[in-house]
Amino acid sequence: MHKYYVMTLFPDMIDSIAGTSIMKRAIDASIIDIEAVNIRDYTVNKHNRVDDYTYGGGAGMLMQAQPVYDCHKAILERHQGRKIRTVYMTPQAPIFDQKMARDLADEEEIIFLCGHYEGIDERVLEEIVTDYISIGDYVLTGGELPAMVCIDAIARMVPGVLGNEISGETESFDDGLLEYPQYSRPVEWMGKTVPDVLMSGHHANIEKWRKEQSLERTRQRRPDLYEKYIERMRDRS
Ligand code: ADE
Repeated sequence: MHKYYVMTLFPDMIDSIAGTSIMKRAIDASIIDIEAVNIRDYTVNKHNRVDDYTYGGGAGMLMQAQPVYDCHKAILERHQGRKIRTVYMTPQAPIFDQKMARDLADEEEIIFLCGHYEGIDERVLEEIVTDYISIGDYVLTGGELPAMVCIDAIARMVPGVLGNEISGETESFDDGLLEYPQYSRPVEWMGKTVPDVLMSGHHANIEKWRKEQSLERTRQRRPDLYEKYIERMRDRS
């Protein structure tokens, strides 16, 4: 069982995604578990406040170190105080990709920390965070959606999550290329027909066509990935 903890001020956001579709199926099958842990439960002040003003001035409030630290400690204590990879979701970080998803899919437990307001007191981050991850160069209102984006990509690499028949490795980005176009019934729709080769039953030709389509699509839509692919192929030969 792979267990993903999400430290958050908005557990409902996590639960609603975890309770839907393939994530729900994987949780029901006890292949993974996702647990939202409410940072607010670890406050020690009368009004359960987690935020305070920032030293040095500037707009906005900051999440304080103490509740975040105590929340994290409580999770570790459930694992005999063992070290667990702890990921802080922030735009000030390397951008998440398939390689990171594959790497994190090997971890039995991961803790995701979601910030709100203007961020979190740096001292607690230094103390508990092992990995910093961004999901892209834009700023969201909190780390919950980014954490669930990561968990989705990680969980689908865990054996069994997609069901026995499909492996997470056989899809886009597997070889650094985008996926080829696909078609289902009917053969003709809006005057457009399915490419002949796909109905030929000739597997070698179909593979060849798909590879060409992948290459062309990548070249057009993601020239950056295409260049990297060409370089890799050049280095290999
Ligand atoms: N929190 C706010 N924006 C974010 C982003 N782009 N990636 C990860 N965490 C975030």
